[in-house]
Amino acid sequence: MSRLVHHSKLIFYRISSIATSRNGRFLSTGPDKSSGLNDSAKTDKVEEAETVEVPPPPTEKLLVLGGNGFVGSHICKEALNRGLTVASLSRSGRSSVQESWANSVIWHQGNLFSTDSWKDVLKGVTSIISCVGGFGSNSEMYKINGTANINAIRAASEEGVKRFVYISAADFGVVNYLLNGYYEGKRAAETELLTRYPYGGVILRPGFIHGTRHVGSMKLPLSVIGSPLEMVLQHAKPLIQVPLVGPLLTPPVSVNAVAKVAVRAATDPVFPPGIVDVYGILRYSQQR
Ligand SMILES: NC(=O)c1ccc[n+]([C@@H]2O[C@H](COP(=O)([O-])OP(=O)(O)OC[C@H]3O[C@@H](n4cnc5c(N)ncnc54)[C@H](OP(=O)(O)O)[C@@H]3O)[C@@H](O)[C@H]2O)c1
Repeated sequence: MSRLVHHSKLIFYRISSIATSRNGRFLSTGPDKSSGLNDSAKTDKVEEAETVEVPPPPTEKLLVLGGNGFVGSHICKEALNRGLTVASLSRSGRSSVQESWANSVIWHQGNLFSTDSWKDVLKGVTSIISCVGGFGSNSEMYKINGTANINAIRAASEEGVKRFVYISAADFGVVNYLLNGYYEGKRAAETELLTRYPYGGVILRPGFIHGTRHVGSMKLPLSVIGSPLEMVLQHAKPLIQVPLVGPLLTPPVSVNAVAKVAVRAATDPVFPPGIVDVYGILRYSQQR
């Protein structure tokens, strides 16, 4: 709502500016019959009376949970490029990446399992993107993909954060059975998000994400495999309907595409809430 008001003020400002530049003065809203002033005096009077409200600078503040990870760091970079104020929260804090954009992120250290260690970080935050997830035993996977994110979603909605985007994962057929803690955790967090954020919650379900992943001082160019696979498999959509093995043909998506769509979903008030699958991520990422 506040964005709508802000937007209409902006339109009003632009119309006023156009009127000003075309006529060399601000337009009056009606004739001044009572004053009896001549034309030039009237013009001066109108100029004095008109107040143009200049829109305030953007106040969007994005918090990236896991902003020092593979997907999270690309999201931080994308959000900074869009002029947002960006903060990150993770157990180890600042990213080890030695790139200039990292100096513009506000890095916080905290663990999603102990809400007290990071609740203050939510002050002034307008939207959140969670990239927290991981692998391990089934119970560990449930906790990190599910419980940790459920804690974050609850704390965010209690603090009044407007939008929440969760990086989940596409179903992988037979793989779901092998990694059931991972997928059960993901789906539990999704359910919590849809319940707490029926209008401002977005779930992205990518398959394999490719791009350059930093592992210590090494850079892993995952796109060497991911990019050609993406080109071929994005046209094989009907095959993923084949039970159990079909989902293995889910096309990979680039980390830049995921970052672009996540930031848009977190900041665009008309981005539709709900689940965005791989094909949706590919489609939205091609829009400007
Ligand atoms: N990469 C893929 O191909 C792929 C595909 C589909 C879905 N996904 C999903 O996308 C998300 C991001 O994946 P990724 O590859 O970027 O993973 P990643 O590099 O391992 O990043 C995970 C992030 O979570 C943080 N984290 C872990 N436990 C935490 C906790 N208890 N409290 C706070 N922060 C915590 C980590 O930082 P610290 O260690 O410093 O805490 C790290 O920044 C995950 O949910 C993953 O399941 C990834």
